[in-house]
Amino acid sequence: MVIGVVNGPNLGRLGRRQPDIYGRTSLSDIEASLRGAFPDVEFRFFQSNHEGLIIDTLEGWSDQGVRRIVINPGALTHQSYALRDAIEGLDLMVVEVHLSNIYRREPFRAHSLIAPVAVGQISGLGVMGYHLAVRYLLTASPEL
Ligand code: DQA
Repeated sequence: MVIGVVNGPNLGRLGRRQPDIYGRTSLSDIEASLRGAFPDVEFRFFQSNHEGLIIDTLEGWSDQGVRRIVINPGALTHQSYALRDAIEGLDLMVVEVHLSNIYRREPFRAHSLIAPVAVGQISGLGVMGYHLAVRYLLTASPEL
């Protein structure tokens, strides 16, 4: 099974960026840990600070038949109608992940534009959130 893992703006600096909030694990370490934990999954990984490139990537993956997506949209979560529309329009099965608990931080983070078009959301469980999202997508039925 193919699973796409997308990380949005500023997540390329994980490990160095506000480690008290986001932890000390780098994004490449997260990706390696996913490959290690799920050797049978064919992962596609993508990180960008650019909204349009993320949407282009989701379109490309969708055209290739990749429908199961783990996404941490970073701050696009709270501001991107374009990303929301892409996920809805491409009919992707998305699990939204946040390393931090977006509901116990600044008020603007408590609203996700992505959640209504996601299957579910995992927030505040750190790196484990990515692993749990993959576990879910492996068992979810394709018609979801
Ligand atoms: C984040 C939470 C967002 O509010 C923030 O903009 C991020 C990271 C998280 O993983 O906790 O960049 O998505």
